[in-house]
Amino acid sequence: MMIDRIEALLKDVEKFKAESLDEIESFRIQLLGKKGKITDLFKDFKTVPNDQKREVGQKINLLKNAAADKIEAIKQKLSASREVTIGNDLSLPGEPKNLGSRHPISLVRNEISEIFNRIGFIISEGPEIEDDWHVFSALNFPEEHPARDMQDTFFIEKNPDILLRTHTSSVQVRVMDHQKPPIRTLSPGRVFRNEAISARAHCIFHQVEGLYIDKDVSFADLKQTLLYFAKEFFGEQAEIRLRPSYFPFTEPSAEVDVSCSLCGGKGCNVCKYTGWLEILGCGMVDPNVLESSGIDSKIYSGYAFGMGIERIAMLKYGIKDLRLFFENDQRFLEQFSGNY
Ligand code: DAH
Repeated sequence: MMIDRIEALLKDVEKFKAESLDEIESFRIQLLGKKGKITDLFKDFKTVPNDQKREVGQKINLLKNAAADKIEAIKQKLSASREVTIGNDLSLPGEPKNLGSRHPISLVRNEISEIFNRIGFIISEGPEIEDDWHVFSALNFPEEHPARDMQDTFFIEKNPDILLRTHTSSVQVRVMDHQKPPIRTLSPGRVFRNEAISARAHCIFHQVEGLYIDKDVSFADLKQTLLYFAKEFFGEQAEIRLRPSYFPFTEPSAEVDVSCSLCGGKGCNVCKYTGWLEILGCGMVDPNVLESSGIDSKIYSGYAFGMGIERIAMLKYGIKDLRLFFENDQRFLEQFSGNY
């Protein structure tokens, strides 16, 4: 008896067809609802003689699964055909696809790289986790130099010191160790300093390091290269001025200002009414640094420069707070979409 009822219902399930969700739902209620035919079978199960319970039980379960599968399959088919209909309706408005955009730091890094690529500088990179030699010693930092201080540097291990590089000048050393002059390289990268985070400082930021070593490289070459860069990046009207400075790895050393592009050099609150904005440090590579890497300083000379990418990006886009670069706020980042 039970077996006949099950077989009959299985046939119903196999034959079932539907054109609408309503039809499917009423079929479901008919079979699987509270008073449905399959539900009834479960209720009547207790009347089945013990020796048939196993076989009948399996069959009811099979039937229940077959019904559920069939209902699901028809539902899927219906919704798929609806999608096709919508998909073919060419009059519907399109779905906007939001493209991502490059981060302003990447944009500025790429632009700086391209400008120097055009005059033969090749990109090189080094590790962010460094040793004392590449960040300090090979760059002529005296043993007691304050830049080595715990307050500036994030140390990972002491004796021997393993640390997060505090500047990309470390890549100079790695390049000089592996290449023979002439060397003309640009090293963009992330650097780390143990600084309190504010609108003007962050513990992570980015720098670009430049290095040129050959016979007869002079300070005039350095000046002309930096003037070329300033004009390419900030515009033809840009001018530069050099102020004497000090870095352990260059002699002589200078800091470079570019004329304020906002006020054209007349003075405004961005340039603090000086008409000039500081953009980088530079100098002639100290002979000690060349010798540390096995380059004969009697034959070769070179220049180096280093600039902060955030600073250059802030000047280019008129950004007043450095923290914006690291917060990943879409409202900020979306303003750079469309730029590659
Ligand atoms: N490494 C310096 C810094 O982090 C920047 C710098 C100055 C790099 C002068 C140079 C240079 O290559 O010649 O402040």
